[in-house]
Amino acid sequence: MIEPLRTEEFHKIRELLVHSCGIDLDDDKEYLVESRLTDFGNEIGASSFGDLHNKILADKSSLLPRVIDLMTTNETFWFRDDSAWTALAEEIIPNYVEMLQTGKKSRIRIWSAASSTGQEAYSLSMLIKETCEAKGQPSLFNSFEILGTDISNEALYLAKAAKYNIINVKRGLSPERLEKYFTKDGRSFALNTQIQSITEFKFFNLLDPFDTLGSFDMVLCRNVAIYFSGDFKKKLFSKIHSTINEDGLLMLGASESLFGYSTDFETVEHSSAIYYRKKG
Ligand SMILES: C[S@@+](CC[C@H](N)C(=O)[O-])C[C@H]1O[C@@H](n2cnc3c(N)ncnc32)[C@H](O)[C@@H]1O
Repeated sequence: MIEPLRTEEFHKIRELLVHSCGIDLDDDKEYLVESRLTDFGNEIGASSFGDLHNKILADKSSLLPRVIDLMTTNETFWFRDDSAWTALAEEIIPNYVEMLQTGKKSRIRIWSAASSTGQEAYSLSMLIKETCEAKGQPSLFNSFEILGTDISNEALYLAKAAKYNIINVKRGLSPERLEKYFTKDGRSFALNTQIQSITEFKFFNLLDPFDTLGSFDMVLCRNVAIYFSGDFKKKLFSKIHSTINEDGLLMLGASESLFGYSTDFETVEHSSAIYYRKKG
């Protein structure tokens, strides 16, 4: 059995996480490392967390992804944060549909930059479909492209499978959308393939350079930067700025803000939501 976590071992594991995925644990998060990594440590026969740290370094390619899976918080749900979705439904998505309709744009690319198990990207896809239909332009749905990326392989696997259990399928989703977009498949609920058709999910570490991703009209980077250090946030928002098209948008989580980290965006308010537009 692995020995209880010692403070110096916590510091080593914290450093490893900062360097591999940007997650910067506070001093009071020793319990989190201990509770999330004890079973894993026992599984790979580590005698202590120091030994676990050494084992990870010795076999980074297979052990580190599992540690990252265990240490990331994948909490997400459909249409998370009402005010953001009001802005998306009343302003942002209708504007994009209009740009496509008038020929100002031929495609709209959106990035869900920490997509977890897919609910954010798929909520967007549902909203886009509904907006195109409401505007009498259902075929414009196919002019949207949503890229979902995450560092957690387990979360990505679930996002790609697009099958949710009874608890996760209901979190944040109205009974009407549940009925309209899901089919019961054994004990899970499978998402309609049309909603999946404009989405793609792939592994991507936000620590890495963004040049392989292309450019986007909108980036949703919600409820992930809270886990990063101030320095990493500055670098992250600067990289996001360079990947966003002229006049493109950035949306953060309800409790997050660019204040103190970036002056490259102007703030846009819509009822109680705040999002950001790239400055020229
Ligand atoms: C709390 S979830 C947020 C999901 C969704 N954006 C939402 O707001 O509901 C945070 C996600 O960020 C991912 N993550 C953490 N560090 C990351 C990194 N360095 N690169 C990419 N994704 C990361 C985690 O794996 C997790 O799935």
